[in-house]
Amino acid sequence: MRIITFGTFDVFHVGHVNILERAKLHGSHLIVGVSSDALNFSKKNRYPIYNEKDRLHIIRSLRDVDEVFIEESLELKADYIKYFNADILIMGDDWQGKFDHLKGLCDVIYLPRTPSVSTTEIIEVVKSSII
Ligand code: CTP
Repeated sequence: MRIITFGTFDVFHVGHVNILERAKLHGSHLIVGVSSDALNFSKKNRYPIYNEKDRLHIIRSLRDVDEVFIEESLELKADYIKYFNADILIMGDDWQGKFDHLKGLCDVIYLPRTPSVSTTEIIEVVKSSII
């Protein structure tokens, strides 16, 4: 089975490791779309701390990841699924229901997020401890 997942994976943390490890358990080939810097700006109204080249490099280096690419647009999910021949789309449950329209193309599974960790929170903690 070929698995595809997407994310920014900025300031890489244990929640990111957990979702990639659990995604890989559903198949034998894990493809990860890493959001471009511009896409991240349009989603979250800020640029990532780590640029897209470094984030791609980090994700590519992981044992469970077989293939990576830069995700340029949220609207292209169906094209990426077809291009990479994915059987299953896996996303964290912060996206619950948001990709159900793709169920004609592949299975769609939402996995529970790891509690109490997020890139946004890490950035806030670091900012407040500097001041
Ligand atoms: N993720 C997770 N558990 C967490 C944080 C993220 O399972 N605690 C998953 C998300 O559901 C997504 C992937 O990791 O499928 C990439 O998430 P991303 O948005 O890059 O990470 P966040 O830490 O949620 O970033 P932010 O705080 O900027 O939204």
